[in-house]
Amino acid sequence: MDKIFIEGGRTLKGSIRISGAKNAALPLMAATILAPGQHVLHNVPDLRDTRTMLVLLESFGITWQRREKDNALLIDATNLDNIEASYDLVKTMRASVLVLGPLLARMGQARVSLPGGCAIGARPIDFHMQGLGRLGVELSLEQGYVEGKIDGRLQGSDVNFDIPSVTGTENILMAATLAEGVTTIKNAAREPEIGNLVDMLINMGARIEGKGTDRLVVHGVNELRSAEARVIPDRIETGTYLIAVGATGGELTLTDCDPTHLASLIDKLREVGLDIEEGVDHLWVARHGALKSVDIKTMPYPGFPTDLQAQIMALMSISQGLSVITETIFENRFMHVAELARMGADIRIDGKSSIVKGRSGLSGAQVMATDLRASASLVIAALAAEGETEISRVYHLDRGYDNLAGKLNNVGARIRRVKE
Ligand code: EPU
Repeated sequence: MDKIFIEGGRTLKGSIRISGAKNAALPLMAATILAPGQHVLHNVPDLRDTRTMLVLLESFGITWQRREKDNALLIDATNLDNIEASYDLVKTMRASVLVLGPLLARMGQARVSLPGGCAIGARPIDFHMQGLGRLGVELSLEQGYVEGKIDGRLQGSDVNFDIPSVTGTENILMAATLAEGVTTIKNAAREPEIGNLVDMLINMGARIEGKGTDRLVVHGVNELRSAEARVIPDRIETGTYLIAVGATGGELTLTDCDPTHLASLIDKLREVGLDIEEGVDHLWVARHGALKSVDIKTMPYPGFPTDLQAQIMALMSISQGLSVITETIFENRFMHVAELARMGADIRIDGKSSIVKGRSGLSGAQVMATDLRASASLVIAALAAEGETEISRVYHLDRGYDNLAGKLNNVGARIRRVKE
């Protein structure tokens, strides 16, 4: 397991290109299952999770290659001869569950391992299963696997989410494209990654209305064709670098990003005292003065993203005043608190909230990455801390950040990776 060592106290200055979004690439890759032929995906980030998804697709008989000249991912889903997503793959990436809807739609059957526990919460998939049940799928749980089958085509229906689920909405959306009749997804999640999937599905021949809203109407079609799509910029990667500048000072230009996807974070960071200028596809951020504490409450999009909660907590731990950070999406997403405390942060957990008392500085320490975004918060804290921080279990970072150490080193950070 690799470690990284970060020498703190260096300001960041320069420019970082934002990669394609992990959470958009994964559903787009799963959507290729829906139609035979060669699909072309642009801007797919090279991450542990996207590699896992490729292994999963391969296990179904799908082939793929990277086209060097424009770095496109070519996925040929003509051949599909297996319908099982094994425990070995699902346990390393919960988003593997995204293949359930497309497999059922194209093959009429699927066997997908039930994801186990997770560092940030229980994360059940009951909404996915109920929704697929509404489309006529017969589902059962056998030896840790969700087994689904349907005779003939899926049947369009109304699917109502109790609370909006991102991958749940994506699974039902993909399944419904090939259903007979109309499916209305109510209380759908509205994350931009879902809009990206809607665009790809429409390119494939699907008929979908309501993009970007909480009510998606899918008119099922008889068949879909292979298509071309571009993964949207990673708003969480973008947000992580914006917050990093808050912690270190200096200034950064972030290119190839979409500022409109980050309105809630940008508003908060301006309150904190950062200067941020927005372009159509770039952002400029600088910190000149002191940092002010703000309160944060995570919410489904367009609210403040849970995937940036840990990172902003690192920033609040060195801001002036008291910050109350409330996590409403996941029940156990405060694993970073104990690690930040090792660096000197003053944080008390009270139920769903963390109360952060800002301090003038943090100090480098040995800490452990517990999940993807928690790891990013430790990197941010380490960049700002005095002395060296050693972060172990950095494979979590590799799951979702494209070349994080390299990108930060290019703009003045000093991060060293050590293989173990
Ligand atoms: N939920 C249920 N039952 C379900 C599905 C969800 O109770 O069947 C609950 C969850 O436990 C949670 C809430 O509903 O309390 C919302 O979860 P959601 O289903 O939206 O999460 P997800 O689809 O599993 C995606 C992202 C996560 C991100 C969340 C919330 C992908 C591949 N993953 O997960 O990303 O935190 O939405 O925005 O899109 C990450 O990238 O680090 C990450 C964890």
